[in-house]
Amino acid sequence: MSIYEAILKRRTVRKFKQVVVADSLLEKMVNAARVSPSAANLQPLEYIVVRDKELKEDIFKNVKWAAYIAPQGTPKEGEKPMAYIAVVFNSKVGSAFVPYDLGAAVMAMLLTAWEEGLGCCWIKACDKIALKKLLKIPATHEIDSVIALGCRAETPEMEESDTNIKYYLNPEGVLRVPKKRAQTLTHWEQF
Ligand SMILES: Cc1cc2nc3c(=O)[nH]c(=O)nc-3n(C[C@H](O)[C@H](O)[C@H](O)COP(=O)(O)O)c2cc1C
Repeated sequence: MSIYEAILKRRTVRKFKQVVVADSLLEKMVNAARVSPSAANLQPLEYIVVRDKELKEDIFKNVKWAAYIAPQGTPKEGEKPMAYIAVVFNSKVGSAFVPYDLGAAVMAMLLTAWEEGLGCCWIKACDKIALKKLLKIPATHEIDSVIALGCRAETPEMEESDTNIKYYLNPEGVLRVPKKRAQTLTHWEQF
């Protein structure tokens, strides 16, 4: 799979097969994040990999899924994530640029996971205070978001639309994700 193919095919996944994700794949995802671009190469990001059953249940209780299709978009029993990677940052390091580092590092993880047959949901809607306590994150660090992941148990589809931004479930229960057309977003030479 080429990088471009992975970029085009990757979709957010919220239903997971209940099979263990090998530690080597979790390490591979973090490794991809580790070498991602970082403003002034300050590298403020760190990663907490969670596989423990009870911790995963506790994280699940503190995240929100798929606002446009709630509550159907929330994984049911038998579909829940098999691991999480929480992304934290050192709050003393390069704060203005942290969001850029986060975007680059998380995308690297999502694409690495996709290439390996995994699916991810990048979750920002979470109770950060609860998660900080749960994951024993020190006062020096803040949590930004979590990546829920596992082997893909759904195949969401992209569709082109300049008018609709809301993903939805079609009558067959397939998640459809609208993306604006390239020609709408591309300006050649001048705006
Ligand atoms: C910064 C960011 C935060 C997100 N937070 C959530 C979230 O809290 N819960 C969720 O279910 N999906 C979340 N998503 C996933 C988006 O809903 C998803 O990327 C979007 O619907 C487009 O679908 P695609 O990833 O398949 O292209 C988030 C995505 C981004 C980039």
